[in-house]
Amino acid sequence: MIARPAGNPSSAAGAAPSFPARGSFDIRVQDCIDFLRGLPAESVDLIVTDPAYSGMNRHLRLGHGRIVGHYGKPDNARWFHEFSDDPESYAVFLGECQRVLRQNRHIYIMFDSFSMLTLGALVRDSFDVKGVVVWDKVHLGMGHYFRRRHEQIVFASKGRRKLSRRDLPDVWSVPRIHRAAYPTQKPVKLFELMVQASAEPGFMVCDPFCGSGSSGVAALRGDCDFIGADIDVRAVDIAEDRLARFMATGQDPLEPVR
Ligand SMILES: C[S@@+](CC[C@H](N)C(=O)[O-])C[C@H]1O[C@@H](n2cnc3c(N)ncnc32)[C@H](O)[C@@H]1O
Repeated sequence: MIARPAGNPSSAAGAAPSFPARGSFDIRVQDCIDFLRGLPAESVDLIVTDPAYSGMNRHLRLGHGRIVGHYGKPDNARWFHEFSDDPESYAVFLGECQRVLRQNRHIYIMFDSFSMLTLGALVRDSFDVKGVVVWDKVHLGMGHYFRRRHEQIVFASKGRRKLSRRDLPDVWSVPRIHRAAYPTQKPVKLFELMVQASAEPGFMVCDPFCGSGSSGVAALRGDCDFIGADIDVRAVDIAEDRLARFMATGQDPLEPVR
């Protein structure tokens, strides 16, 4: 990782909004737990996140390497850190999410199949789990047995809150991104569905594993503010540039055709 002082808010914090977004964003180079610990209690209105689980990659190896880390890098180095997702660390992470989320608000956490079985049940200790959404990636991926085409999203609440949209199924067919600019970059559409279902304009949307900032674009599109973190400065640089360009032009440079 290229070092940037932990806890140092990015330069784009509070960037002046212009067409078309009304929100602001603040993205930090920080470990997810340090980041959450630095936020006041009950200070965010929606958490949407896609953690880098280590368990899946310990379990599933392809050839001599891990699945995460290839992505065409010439030196075969890993692209990014994985969160140490042993149950104890994961419980601390969830406890911090619970602390920073306001009462009567929602959280969405993405899981691959392996982490869903090892960690998914722990969400119940911190939140009221309401359901599991399946993300159907439409196109086939890799897989040792059945080829992977889906991920799961645990949907839960702190307190009581209705969905803003009642027309959504629990299977979301959103094509995966091919030739993504950032490894494991998720389609903005996925996070947009979460924002549309669980946020109002002016809400503070939080993603402690923000990667390339897809969740941030979705938040800004929903007229929300965004606060996020990633442990890797390269991710934060990409996300900051992406959100600044989106705010200036209304175009998402990493998903230009919509
Ligand atoms: C699956 S990716 C997120 C991708 C993102 N949703 C997107 O659309 O670009 C997970 C991210 O978690 C980051 N990460 C890994 N360990 C972390 C940690 N301990 N704290 C914060 N971020 C971490 C990685 O650098 C990576 O960018």
